[in-house]
Amino acid sequence: MTTYITTPIFYVNAEPHLGHAYSTIVADTYARFKRLCGDDVRFQTGTDEHGDKIVQAAENAGESPKEYVDRISTMFSGTWPHLDIEPDNFIRTTDSDHKQNVQTILQKVYEQGDIYFSEYEGLYCKGCEQFLTEKELVDGKCADHLTEPEKIREQNYFFKMSKYQEWLVDHIKSNPEFITPERYKNEMLSFLSEPLQDLCISRPTSRLTWGIPLPFDDRFVTYVWFDALINYLTGLVYPNDQKFDTYWPAAEHVIAKDILKPHAIFWPTMLKAMGVEPYKKLHVHGYWNINDTKMSKSLGNVVRPKEMVEEYGVDAVRYFLLRDMSFGLDSSYNSEAVIARQNSDLANDLGNLFSRSLTMVGKFEGGKVPESGPMEDIDQGMQDACAKMLVTYSEEMNQFRFSRALQAVWEVISRANKYIVKNAPWELAKDDTKQERIHTVFYTLLETLRILQVVVSPIMPATAQKMAKGLGVSTVSTLADGKWGGLKPGTPISKPEQLFPRLEKKKSAAPVKVKKDKKKQKAKGEKLEGIITFEEFGKVKLKVAEIVAAERIKKSDRLLKLSVKAPEERTIVAGIAEYYSPEELVGRQVIIVANLKPAKLMGVPSEGMVLAAKDGERLVLASLSDTVALGSRVA
Ligand code: MSP
Repeated sequence: MTTYITTPIFYVNAEPHLGHAYSTIVADTYARFKRLCGDDVRFQTGTDEHGDKIVQAAENAGESPKEYVDRISTMFSGTWPHLDIEPDNFIRTTDSDHKQNVQTILQKVYEQGDIYFSEYEGLYCKGCEQFLTEKELVDGKCADHLTEPEKIREQNYFFKMSKYQEWLVDHIKSNPEFITPERYKNEMLSFLSEPLQDLCISRPTSRLTWGIPLPFDDRFVTYVWFDALINYLTGLVYPNDQKFDTYWPAAEHVIAKDILKPHAIFWPTMLKAMGVEPYKKLHVHGYWNINDTKMSKSLGNVVRPKEMVEEYGVDAVRYFLLRDMSFGLDSSYNSEAVIARQNSDLANDLGNLFSRSLTMVGKFEGGKVPESGPMEDIDQGMQDACAKMLVTYSEEMNQFRFSRALQAVWEVISRANKYIVKNAPWELAKDDTKQERIHTVFYTLLETLRILQVVVSPIMPATAQKMAKGLGVSTVSTLADGKWGGLKPGTPISKPEQLFPRLEKKKSAAPVKVKKDKKKQKAKGEKLEGIITFEEFGKVKLKVAEIVAAERIKKSDRLLKLSVKAPEERTIVAGIAEYYSPEELVGRQVIIVANLKPAKLMGVPSEGMVLAAKDGERLVLASLSDTVALGSRVA
């Protein structure tokens, strides 16, 4: 099978931001996923460099258009490697082969009579670089740019788009997956229920010179869409190259809803006029807003991909964007949401599973993949869950439902974490007759991790690489490697590298103040020491919490740093390192004093205390006889 996946080519009137990064991460992830499926994949992105807006931006920057477009285009191509985005082709509309290609196509369509010269008066939106109909305006303004379009009357060349309206409606209706998600298909069908206007494709050189001259009339240049959309063909060296024959039938475009009409209407009709088959699929996503507000330079809330990567790391950014946006709908970005995902899904769930499994294999299995003994129901359950996840994952990834694909993966991660707690290998290790059982448990865990490494690789390539290294397997894998049983007993397992650091919340919660009543205590005298009133006890907030991460504190034999959820997250430093290893704590419910004044121990801030009973030499954590909701008050 073959896949050709593209992003929009981005205007160089602005530097790369979160929105551009999202579309490009989506395309990169899909390209990697399709490679995993064994496809021959080509992934293309690039920059759109002609038009009024670019000339204006160059003037504002005090540069010539050429200097300006070279500089900004390099910013785009230079940003993608920071996000582990690896396109096969980066196209620029100022490349000479592209300009020539556009001219050849224009000439052909002109000669066959689908381009004509006429006078036109219409409402032109500079932001969209297109004429809008009255119906598309909201309160007389462009809905996207919130500006009033200008009334423009001039002679221009037009593409006979209306001629292909009926064909297009039929094509959309008979190919249900041509435009997805469905809401956008419906939007276009509704737009097509009215007569389609022809498309103005030129600008007089008196008004714009920064464009591609029409081959049949050099007083005009072609403007944005006839130039830009053709990039998808130029990148395949249309029409005479093997690449075109191989990849064009498999073309899938990723765009946001802002450029739906040019892609769903102009482009297929242009292709039809050129005698080229329409692309296979159009995938339309929503908008990223910032804290629920539109991202804009004037509001100063533009998020730059490179800064995100510096702050959170590339894989946390890729994961967050794909997990938090339901493809097709708008989503809101804020740093708290990224930190929450990083700490809970990545550091706690995946990171802990990986590190404690490998650490225990080091301790209990001599650092090698063990030979599995007979499987019990619980092990078979883990294997079946992996197989089921692979099916769901593939379906969802193929449909661009990345968030759902990741949810399916995380169900397995959560099951694997529970599998550790239920099997308690540290307890089995105390019993000589349970050695075979330990082998089965660790084989099951390592196999699960290996399969997880395969499925996370399109989304988080760097993390997959670290996991593969730890598991002693190769990173070049295919989805078929997701089948159970790939790990060879005896393979050495490395000491685990930390996959994700835990990030501190930006604002820490204000400490809860509990007033001390020293005077009263003194007055009651020696005999009453330790006695407290009901009200005083009521001031102590005991809550149920789950330990989600645990690690030793350097230079201390006694202290462990625990991350607990109650259900809000907090850090507690507990003096239990001599009695409990970090691996056996994760996943346990404990009782904490939730309103203890925060303190620092060995430089680590601690927000509470874990209850435990001291019994001679032993120290045993207080727990409940059943699992309860996190944050439940203990009274
Ligand atoms: N040059 C045209 C596209 C020509 S394609 C043949 C263009 N360029 S653009 O720089 O304005 O890019 C628009 C695209 O950037 C959107 O379709 C989307 O892919 C991405 N995004 C820009 N802002 C975005 C958000 N706030 N959220 C998500 N993606 C958005 O239009």
